[in-house]
Amino acid sequence: MCGIIGYIGNEQAQPILLEGLKQLEYRGYDSAGIATLIKGSVSVRKEKGKIAALEKLLDKKPLKGTIGLGHTRWATHGIPNQSNAHPHVDCHGDIAVVHNGIVENYEELKEKLMQEGHRFNSATDTEVIAHLIEKFYKDDLEAAVRAAIREIKGSFALGVISAKYPDTIIGIRYASPLVIGLGKGENFIASDITAVLKHTKDIIFLEDNEMVIMNKDSVKITTIGGRPVQRDAVKINWDISQAQKSGYPHFMLKEIAEQPTVVESILNHRVSQGKESVYFEELKIQEDVLSKIENINIVACGTAYHAGLCGKYILEELVKIPVAVDVSSEFRYRNPILGKNALTISISQSGETADTLASMREAKRLGATILSIVNVLGSTVTRESDGIIYTHAGPEIGVASTKAYTAQLCILYLFAIYMGMLKGAVSQQKVKELLSQMQQLPQIIAKLLADQKVILKVSKEQHNKKCFLYLGRNINFPNALEGALKLKEISYIHAEGYASGEMKHGPIALIDKDMPVVCIATASSVYDKMTSNIQEIKSRSGIVISIATEGDERIKHHSDYVIYIPPVNELFSPIPVAVCLQLIAYYIAVKNNRDVDQPRNLAKSVTVE
Ligand code: G6P
Repeated sequence: MCGIIGYIGNEQAQPILLEGLKQLEYRGYDSAGIATLIKGSVSVRKEKGKIAALEKLLDKKPLKGTIGLGHTRWATHGIPNQSNAHPHVDCHGDIAVVHNGIVENYEELKEKLMQEGHRFNSATDTEVIAHLIEKFYKDDLEAAVRAAIREIKGSFALGVISAKYPDTIIGIRYASPLVIGLGKGENFIASDITAVLKHTKDIIFLEDNEMVIMNKDSVKITTIGGRPVQRDAVKINWDISQAQKSGYPHFMLKEIAEQPTVVESILNHRVSQGKESVYFEELKIQEDVLSKIENINIVACGTAYHAGLCGKYILEELVKIPVAVDVSSEFRYRNPILGKNALTISISQSGETADTLASMREAKRLGATILSIVNVLGSTVTRESDGIIYTHAGPEIGVASTKAYTAQLCILYLFAIYMGMLKGAVSQQKVKELLSQMQQLPQIIAKLLADQKVILKVSKEQHNKKCFLYLGRNINFPNALEGALKLKEISYIHAEGYASGEMKHGPIALIDKDMPVVCIATASSVYDKMTSNIQEIKSRSGIVISIATEGDERIKHHSDYVIYIPPVNELFSPIPVAVCLQLIAYYIAVKNNRDVDQPRNLAKSVTVE
C-alpha cells in the first residue's frame, strides 16, 4: 500500500518521479504528490485523486530540480484529500518525507510534538516523522533520521530529503519494502522494482532495519543503528515492456493474454526434457526434510488463498497427506495446531502481504518448515522462508490478480508432483503422463483466448444484473470463489461463490429470472451432479452460464450460454476455467465503465493489517 519513489541524478526529477509513480499506482491511488529540491529549498506539489490529477497540476505548476521524492497514497490515517497526501514537511518546510506503512504511536508523538510547538497540517501519521526529524536535527541529517526512527513504532518504508542536503536522499526500510536502483550518475529508491526498471536493472534489496544514504554517484547502506552493510546488486531480468500496457486497453486484459506464455515458461524452466522430473533450483529445503513432511497447511489472502484452496485438492490427490488451508488473517489469530513434521506453504503474488507474513511467522514459531510460492523477487516473504519457489509470472500491475493465479496453480501442480515422487505416492509413469498433459495447457489457454464470442455476449446481455452466483464442485469449487471475487473486485456487482452441493442449503432461495449463475460444469467425476444443479437452477428460471467441455452438446438444453473449454484432465481444468472466469469479470466491468486496473478502495499489495 502506498508507493514511494526517489530520484537523484543529473536529469530533471519531475518526469522521472511521475513515470515511477505511474508504475506504482497499483499500490494505492487516492492521492499523490512529489517534492523536489531547488536552490536550497523544498517545493511540494500534491493532489487528491490519481496520478493524472497530480500530472495536471504539475503541467500548470512544474517543479524543477534534479533530486526529489514521489508518493502515491492508499489512505490509512486521514481521509484522501490534498493536505493528507504525501510528501509531508516539517514546520519550516525544509524536510520532506514520504512514507509507506503505519506509525502506530503517532497520536502520542503528535501530542508531544504539538506541546513542544510543532505545527501540523494534516491528519496523517506520517507527518510526525517530518517533525521528529526536525526536532532531532543538529547539523547531521543522518543522525536526526536515526533518532526519529527510534521513536516510531509500526511498519514503514521512508524517503527523506532536506533543503540543507541538496545532494542526499535517505531511504529506510522497516517492515515495508524499499529497493535501491543503481544508475550511472543517478540513483533511485522505490517501493518496487517496476518503478525504476526503465532506468536500471541493477537493484539492491534493502532488508528490514536498514537505511540507505545516497547521492548521485554513491550509495551507503547501514543498519538503522549505524552499522555498515555490504550488499551486492542483483541483475533483474524483467523487461520494462512487461510493466507496460503494450497496446492493450488495460493491464488486466494484457495479463490475462499473457497466461499461455507464463504457463509455458514455467513448464520450460521446471520440467525435464523427458517429462520425468521437476526442478525447483531455488527451493533450498532438503529432500530428506520434505520427504518426512506429514501434513501441509497453506496460508494466503485473496486470490492467492483461492489458489491455496485448489492446492489442497491437488496436494491431497498427488501427495496423499492432509492439507489445511487458511486465510492468513484467520490463521494468525486462532491457535492453529500444526502436526509433527509440518510444512507451511505461503502463497503471495507480492510477497509483502502483512497478514501472510504474520501467519508465516506464527507457523515458524510453531515449528513448521516454511515454503513460499511468490512472484516478486526479493520480497519480504522470500526472506523469511526456509525455501522459495518463484512463479516468475513477470510484473502483475492490474489490481485484480490473473496471471499470478494461474502461475500459482501451475507451481502447486508441479510441487505436488515433486512431493508425490519424493513420498512415493505417484509412480514414474504417472508423473510422465501428468507432465505431458500439463504441456498442453498453453495451447488450451491460447485457444480459449482466441474465441471470446460467448463471453462477450454474456457481458453484453448480463452486465446490468445486480447479483451473480458462481457454482463449482470438487477441484473447481475454489474457482467458483475466485470467479465471484474477480467480478466483485472490478465490476462492483455483488457475487457469491458456492460449492454446488451447498446450493440447496441457501443460495437456491435467491434464484429467479434476474439471477445469472455461472456453473462450472467441465467434464469431470462430478459432472452429473453439476448438471443436476444446473437443472434445479433452470427450473427456478435462473440464467445459466455454463462453462463446459467441447463436445458436450447436452448441456446446451439447460443453459442460456455455454462457454466451452478444450478437453483437459479434470485435475488441470482449474487453469482454463480460471481464464474464462477472468474474461467474464473483465468484460462485465468494462461494459459497466469501471476502472478495471484500479478498482475503488482496493490496493494490489496490502502491507497493513
Ligand atoms: C490484494 C489484491 C489481490 C491479492 C491479495 C493477496 O487484495 O488486490 O489481488 O490476491 O491482495 O495478495 P498477495 O500479494 O499476497 O498475493
